[in-house]
Amino acid sequence: MRVTMIGTGYVGLVSGACFADFGHVVTCVDKDASKIEKLKAGEIPIYEPGLEDLVETNVKQERLFFTTDPEEAIKSADAVFIAVGTPSRRGDGHADLSYVYGAAEEIADLMEGYTVVVTKSTVPVGTGDEVEAIIAKKRARDDFAVVSNPEFLREGAAIKDFKIPDRVVVGTEDQRAMEVMRELYRPLFLNETPILFTNRRTSELIKYAANAFLAVKITFINEIADLCEKVGANVQEVSRGIGLDNRIGKKFLNAGPGYGGSCFPKDTLALTKTANDHDSPIRIVDTVVEVNAARKKAMADKIIAAMGGDVSGKQIAVLGLAFKQNTDDMRDAPSLDILPALQKAGATIRAYDPASMEEAAKHLSDIQFCDGPYHAIEGADAMVIITEWDQFRALDMKRVQDLLKTNTVIDLRNIYSKPDMEKRGFNYVSIGRP
Ligand code: UGA
Repeated sequence: MRVTMIGTGYVGLVSGACFADFGHVVTCVDKDASKIEKLKAGEIPIYEPGLEDLVETNVKQERLFFTTDPEEAIKSADAVFIAVGTPSRRGDGHADLSYVYGAAEEIADLMEGYTVVVTKSTVPVGTGDEVEAIIAKKRARDDFAVVSNPEFLREGAAIKDFKIPDRVVVGTEDQRAMEVMRELYRPLFLNETPILFTNRRTSELIKYAANAFLAVKITFINEIADLCEKVGANVQEVSRGIGLDNRIGKKFLNAGPGYGGSCFPKDTLALTKTANDHDSPIRIVDTVVEVNAARKKAMADKIIAAMGGDVSGKQIAVLGLAFKQNTDDMRDAPSLDILPALQKAGATIRAYDPASMEEAAKHLSDIQFCDGPYHAIEGADAMVIITEWDQFRALDMKRVQDLLKTNTVIDLRNIYSKPDMEKRGFNYVSIGRP
C-alpha cells in the first residue's frame, strides 16, 4: 500500500517508519524544509530508542521517503494520515485544530482516486466530521472516507507499542476504508492483535478516555502514596496488592512526582473542555488535572522538608529532568515546577539528564548542567532523583556518600530500597514509603 504521513512529529515519524517496516511504501511530508533535509540525511529530530536504525533501514530499502512537496505524495496515496500537532489552545485548553484542518484542505486539493484520510492526531470528538465536511466541499463523497485511527504510543517505547500493540482502534463505517485499514495493519494479524472497528466518534473518544483513565490511575496511586506516608503504609506494596487483581491491573500504579509529557496534561484538559461544552462534566478528570498540578508544586516542599526546612544557600543535585525516562521531552515535566521553586527558596541546582539537558536549558535558568550523575552530586547538600533513568538505578552508593556533603537522598521515583538506603546511613526520603 502507498501511505502518506502529513507531519513528521513524534507520531508521524514513528508511525511512518513502522508502516514502512511492515512493507508499505511511505512518504512523510512536512512543511519544515530543514527538518526534511535532516531526515533525508539520516538525522532524527527526536530522541526515541531504535528509531534512527528503523528510518535508516527503510530509507535504504526505498520504502520510506521524506519530502516537503505534498503534491506527488498525496496524489499517489491509498491512505493519507494526518499526524500534525494539536497543541492546547492558549487560554482555554481546547485542542488547537488549525493544523488538522489545514492538512484536510491540502488533501482535498491534491488527492486523486479513492483516498482514505486517516486522522492519527489526537482530536476531539467530532473533528472527523469537520475534516469530512472540508474535503466534501471540493470532492465527491464517494471519492474518500475519513477514518479515525488514534495512536497509543508511549515515548521511549513507541516502536514496540506500534508493532506489538494491545489493540488498534479504527473509527469508520465505510466498507472500502475498512478494507484499506485492514490491509495496512495486516502484519499485526500474526500476533492476533485485536483490531477494533467502531464509529468515528467512538474512536475519537476512546483515545481521550484511555489517556484520561491512565492519568486517573496514576493520580489515584499518588494520593494513596500521600496517605501511606500519614498512616505508615507502603505504596509499592499497596500497588502490588491491588494490581494483582486483574480487574485493576498492575501497570501505571507507580507513585511519583505527578504525570507530565506531551499527552496526559493536554488530553485530560481537552477532555474536560469537551465534556463541559456538552454539559456532561467528567468531574473525576477535572479533579485529576487539579490534583496533579498541585502535586508537582508540592514536590519542592517535600524536598525542602527533607533537607531540614531551609535550602537557602544550599546546593541540590538533580538527577533526571525529562518527564520520564528514555525521552528528551521536557513538556510539562515535573522538574519544570520543582526546580524553579527550589531556586526561589534560595537553593542552587546542579543537574544531569542523559538526554534532555539541551531542551531543559531552554526552559530553566541558572542551572549548572553536569557531565554525569557523580559530577552533579559532587559537593551537593542533597541528591534528588526526579526521572527514573536506568543509569540512576544502580549508582555506586559508596561513591555517592563520599561525594555528597550530607547523606540526604530524595527519590521521587522510588527506585531504591528504603531499608537498604537506611542501612547505608542515608537520610532517604521517597514517595509513600515512610
Ligand atoms: C501516553 C500514553 O501512555 C500512550 O498510550 C499515549 O499514546 C500517549 O500518551 C499519547 O497520547 O500520545 P507518554 O506520554 O509517552 O504516553 O508516557 P507515559 O509512559 O504514559 O507516561 C506519562 C506520565 O505518567 C509520565 O510523566 C510518567 O512518569 C507518569 N507515570 C506513568 C507515572 O507517574 N506512574 C506510572 O505508573 C506511569
